[in-house]
Amino acid sequence: FGLLKRVNAYLGEYLSKKSRNKESFSDNCFSRSSSNSSIVTEEGLFEQPEPLASGTAVMEKILLRRSSLLRDQQQAWQESLEGREMLEFRQSLPAYKEKDTILTAILQNQVVIISGETGCGKTTQIPQFILESEIDSARGAFCSIICTQPRRISAISVSERVASERGEKLGESVGYKVRLEGIKGRDTRLLFCTTGILLRRLLVDRNLKGVTHVIVDEIHERGMNEELKLILMSATLDAELFSSYFDGAPLIHIPGFTYPVRTHFLENILEMTGYRLTPSNQIDDYGQERMWKMSKQAPRKRKSQIVSSVEDALRAADFKDFSPQIQESLSCWNPDCIGFNLIEYLLSYICENERPGAVLVFMTGWDDISSLKDKLQAHPVLGDPSRVLLLTCHGSMASSEQKLIFEEPEDGVRKIVLTTNIAETSITINDVVFVLDCGKAKETSYDALNNTPCLLPSWVSKVSTQQRRGRAGRVQPGECYHLYPRCVYDAFTEYQLPEILRTPLQSLCLQIKSLKLGSISEFLSRALQSPKLLAVQNAIEYLKVIGALDENENLTVLVEPKLGKMLILGAILNCLDPVLTIVAGLSVRDPFLTPLDKKDLAETAKLQFSHDHSDHLALVRAYEGWKEAEKDLAGYDYCWKNFLSAQSMKAIDSLREEFLSLLKDTGLIDGYATSCNDWSYDQHLIRAIICYGLYPGICSVVHNEKSFSLKTMEDGPVLLYSNSVNARESRIPYPWLVFNEKIKVNSVFLRDSTAVSDSVLLLFGGSISRGDVDGHLKMLGGYLEFFMQPAIAEKYLSLRREFDELIQNK
Ligand code: CDP
Ligand code: MG
Repeated sequence: FGLLKRVNAYLGEYLSKKSRNKESFSDNCFSRSSSNSSIVTEEGLFEQPEPLASGTAVMEKILLRRSSLLRDQQQAWQESLEGREMLEFRQSLPAYKEKDTILTAILQNQVVIISGETGCGKTTQIPQFILESEIDSARGAFCSIICTQPRRISAISVSERVASERGEKLGESVGYKVRLEGIKGRDTRLLFCTTGILLRRLLVDRNLKGVTHVIVDEIHERGMNEELKLILMSATLDAELFSSYFDGAPLIHIPGFTYPVRTHFLENILEMTGYRLTPSNQIDDYGQERMWKMSKQAPRKRKSQIVSSVEDALRAADFKDFSPQIQESLSCWNPDCIGFNLIEYLLSYICENERPGAVLVFMTGWDDISSLKDKLQAHPVLGDPSRVLLLTCHGSMASSEQKLIFEEPEDGVRKIVLTTNIAETSITINDVVFVLDCGKAKETSYDALNNTPCLLPSWVSKVSTQQRRGRAGRVQPGECYHLYPRCVYDAFTEYQLPEILRTPLQSLCLQIKSLKLGSISEFLSRALQSPKLLAVQNAIEYLKVIGALDENENLTVLVEPKLGKMLILGAILNCLDPVLTIVAGLSVRDPFLTPLDKKDLAETAKLQFSHDHSDHLALVRAYEGWKEAEKDLAGYDYCWKNFLSAQSMKAIDSLREEFLSLLKDTGLIDGYATSCNDWSYDQHLIRAIICYGLYPGICSVVHNEKSFSLKTMEDGPVLLYSNSVNARESRIPYPWLVFNEKIKVNSVFLRDSTAVSDSVLLLFGGSISRGDVDGHLKMLGGYLEFFMQPAIAEKYLSLRREFDELIQNK
């Protein structure tokens, strides 16, 4: 039981990262009906596991028969020509050489920790070893192996790979499951899934009944019963730390096999290519914009230690072994700039002078990848498709795009892949020989004081740098170009701070409560690396304010409070249809697509759905249009024309059904189409419900002559994402915007927003029926006073007090 607790604690810690982006945000989105124990997730009632160990003789017999079938199939494949070829490839991987050691360790220990360089075969081989040995022992149908992946892309691509290594199609012995999607059959014994899927399974089934092995892969990215085996894997993990956390579990290291990689720092690059840095070529459009914003708006305290130590390192550095030109050049180097000009120059230098081989360029995120791509496409060599195959690689790319990355280009064409740090450990591109490393990554961090997540580029750790460098030595000796001086590298920290120490903890706290793990702060104090007390208190306070936790830190009925609140009010106030769509829309990936090369067209397409200053209502229109089109089987065309994601639309559709049946279960509604929708056309009412759900996500709108500016109480000035319908307006006819998510990227940005009036905010801001009315009014009063004259705020408040009393007496 102690072990189980620690496993849960570890996974809980993993979860904290889940709050950072939209995809993951919805991973945490579930609601629980109070009357029965089934959890409704966005992917439907979570299937209860098949009762494998049912103990009846009949069941035993069936499983034995299935086991021998599995064994026959496996043997037939291993003896076939293709199977033998595949085995030869597998045997060439370093992990294969450790096969027996690994299997023995797993047999003899409950927890095993495995480390080994990226590409050595951890993910594809180790789950397979376990599966094969279970099948060989003729009890294959009794095992159930779950292997978690940090990203949906890796879960899907790895399961495809393993199935093909076993000569099978997906859904036979190997399957996958990610949010809203999966392939899994009756005989699936090895399941690759995202960590979120496993966590949700833990909610309904704490002992993971029927599961024999859990493999937590990429454990550095931080996350049962007595027979359960736990295998933790990573390329870069701080193995000792994990081992001591699990009572000295054995560590197995798979020795690597990368070729040597030559390292070039900025000074060497300048020397080699003859490039000269000047103040002006250090500034590219993008960099200039960034520097300006950083200096103007980022508060001083954002200057983290690492930045100042990089600056110190630069000041102290001496380059006297280099020529005066290089010394002068280095003195112009601007650490705040990504250095697009230098990257362009270096890439064309490689294309002209270096041996064949793909180039991998590590950038910080989607925005600079796209700006760089635009720039390179205009270059005579780099933009010439007969000479260069220019690709991008990031977390939200489509699977067709994904396949291109792994393909080898035609002779004479050089592949250049611009990537985020996803290619550091999760994705391996085999033919890479050259790596460019900008030295930074967008890292979520968290300002506990004003409760705002930030996503700013910051210097990476030494471990990340080594990973990036290692990508160049997969097939032959490689070259790695770090676009910063060595002295800066020397100032990097060894490891990156774990996510739990740098993100807001609200959803983690909710998970702790729904897993019934006791007091939040006590639980978090047992984590592998505990977060700051202030951050924990802040999260708990926030959850109390929005009504998710009561005064004693107990969960109130609604687990995902924002969405649950909206659904209930939508049902009570008879405007359920649009509310269902909005709530479902907030739980999936943004259905409004903005492809890089058609950003303008896409944003214009979104505008046609809007005439009332609300992204949420725009979604309702888009969904209704799609639903109409679906009737004529034209849903796909509709999405294509309007830059909508058909996948998200379908997801919204099925989530709506689930939310609806949840509401029926709770007895809040019985019929649906007629009685619940009397007021569905009333957009003022819908607006009010959106406000009710999203409060305290509010910001004020202040008009000046030509346009308007926005500010929140916590952050001061904020901006809108360019694809928000409100971003294209010059006036907003309401004094407030409510929003679901804000994020700091240079400035604080609001994603989706809806404009609301004073009276709506006053009547629907905050929880209406909560016991502690006074405390609530104080908070709302704080908001009002911040933005209004005290006398007016006071007047509003007394109105609200009356309103609350009215409701309470009713
Ligand atoms: O997990 P780890 O980074 O240790 O390696 P892996 O993902 O198991 O990959 C092992 C090897 O399998 C890689 O080096 C590739 O050569 C090969 N592989 C592949 O060809 N196609 C894939 N989709 C995945 C892996
Ligand atoms: Mg792996």
